Amino acid sequence: MGAPSTDTNNFDFYDPDGYVEGPPHEVFEQLRASEPVVWHPMPTDGEHRGDGYWAVLRHHDVVEVSKHPKVFSAELGGVVLEDLDPSSLAAMRNMLLAMDPPRHIDHRRNVSPKFRVRVIAAMEERIRQICREIMDRAAALQAERGEVDFVHDVAAHLPAQVIGELMGLPVEDWPRIHALAERNSGGQDPDINPDAGEANSGSSASIEMAMYAIEHANRRRQEPVRDDLTSLLLESEVDGRPMNDVEFGSFFVQLVTAGNDTTRTMLSSGLHAFLDHPEQMAAVRADLTLLPGAIEEVLRWANPLHYFRRTTTEATEIGGVAIAAGQKVGLMYTSANRDEEVFEDPHRFDITRDPNPHLSFGVAQHFCLGAHLARLEGRVFFEELFGRFGAIEQRGPALRQRSNLNNSLKALPVALSS
Ligand code: HEM
Repeated sequence: MGAPSTDTNNFDFYDPDGYVEGPPHEVFEQLRASEPVVWHPMPTDGEHRGDGYWAVLRHHDVVEVSKHPKVFSAELGGVVLEDLDPSSLAAMRNMLLAMDPPRHIDHRRNVSPKFRVRVIAAMEERIRQICREIMDRAAALQAERGEVDFVHDVAAHLPAQVIGELMGLPVEDWPRIHALAERNSGGQDPDINPDAGEANSGSSASIEMAMYAIEHANRRRQEPVRDDLTSLLLESEVDGRPMNDVEFGSFFVQLVTAGNDTTRTMLSSGLHAFLDHPEQMAAVRADLTLLPGAIEEVLRWANPLHYFRRTTTEATEIGGVAIAAGQKVGLMYTSANRDEEVFEDPHRFDITRDPNPHLSFGVAQHFCLGAHLARLEGRVFFEELFGRFGAIEQRGPALRQRSNLNNSLKALPVALSS
C-alpha cells in the first residue's frame, strides 16, 4: 500500500517527514472509517502556523467544500496550510488559485481561451517534437553515463519547455525559470530549498521569479503583440484597467509553478507506477490507446498534490461536523482518491479503471486550468518514450520529496535501451 503500518492516533500527517516513505494511506483509510473530518494540530514552533486544521478525507466532502467558495474561501488565508506573512499572502491573492468569486471569475475568463481543449489540441505536434528532442538527449546521456535520473534528465524538460513556449520566454531563460519553480514548490525539502523548515519557505524563489516576470512584461510592452500568454495577459483588463506589474508577476509565478512540477511529477510517478506494475506497462506498450485511461489512473494513484487549503468565512459544517468561522480546512486529495465508497479496490493500480473520478485536478470553481494541457503532455510523452525505448529498467530506489504538499519524486534512476 506504500506506507508502513502506523498508529492513526499518534501519526502526524502534517509533518513533511511523514511522507518521505510514501503517503500515509493506512492512516487515511482508518480515519475515513472513524473520523473522516478530523482536527489535526500544527506545530507552534517557527513562524505563524496557527493551531491546526480540519482534514477532510472523504471524496464526497472534498467535492462539497470545493463547490462552496463563499463559505470555504481560497482567498482569506491562501491555499497552503501555513499562515503566510502579509506580503506573501497579498502576492498569493493575485493568483487565480487564491481568488474568490466574483474576482476569480473575471480573471479566469481572461486566460481560459488559451487553455480550451481545441486550442490545446493544436499544440500536439509541437509537444511531440519537444518530446522527441528530450528522448534524443536522454539517449545521449544514457550512452554517456550508463543511466539517467528520469526526474531531472527526462521528465522535467517537457513542462519547462511547454510553459516557456506558452509564455513566450526567451529559450536561454528556461533553465533559470525552471530552477526557481522547483525551489518555489520544493519548499520543505532541504535538498531542494536551503530555507526548508521556515513557515514561508520558498517565498524567496517566488519573489525572484515575480521580479523576472516584471522585467519580462516591461520588455514585452515595447514589442508587437504576439500569440502567447504574455500578450494575452498584458492585453487583458482587470477591473476595467490593464494588469499592473505586481498582478502580472503573481499570475506568472502561479502559471509557471503550477504547470512545471505537477506535470513533471505526473510523468515521473507515472513511469514509477508502470515499473512497479510491469504487466500493465506491457499492456500499454502493446496498445497505446490505453494511455489516456492509464494517465488518469496515474493521476489518481500518485496525485501530484496532496492537498489545498480553504478557510471558513462563517460557522458551518462538513459531513455533520461543526466548523467555526475562520478555521483552516485541508482538502486531502490523497485520501479522497483512495475513498472506498467511490473507487473499487482503491489501493490497486489499474489502468483500465472506469469511471475514474479522481480529484487530482481539484473540482468546481478552481478546477485546474491546465488539465487538458497536462493530459496531452502525458499522452504524447509516454507515446514517444515507449516508442523510443523498448526496455526501461529501474537502477536504484526512487527518492521522494520531503513534503506534505507535493507528492513527488526527486530522483528515479533508470537505464533506457532501445
Ligand atoms: C498533472 C499536472 C497538474 C496537476 C495535478 C494540477 C493540479 C491542480 C489543482 C489540484 C488545482 C486546484 C484545484 C482546486 O483548488 O480546486 C489546480 C489549479 C490550477 N492549475 Fe493545475 N495542475 C496540473 C497542471 C497544470 C498546468 C500544466 C497548468 C498551466 C500551464 C496549470 C495551471 C493551473 C491554474 C492556473 C490553476 C488555478 C485555477 C483556478 O483557480 O481557477 N496546472 N491545478
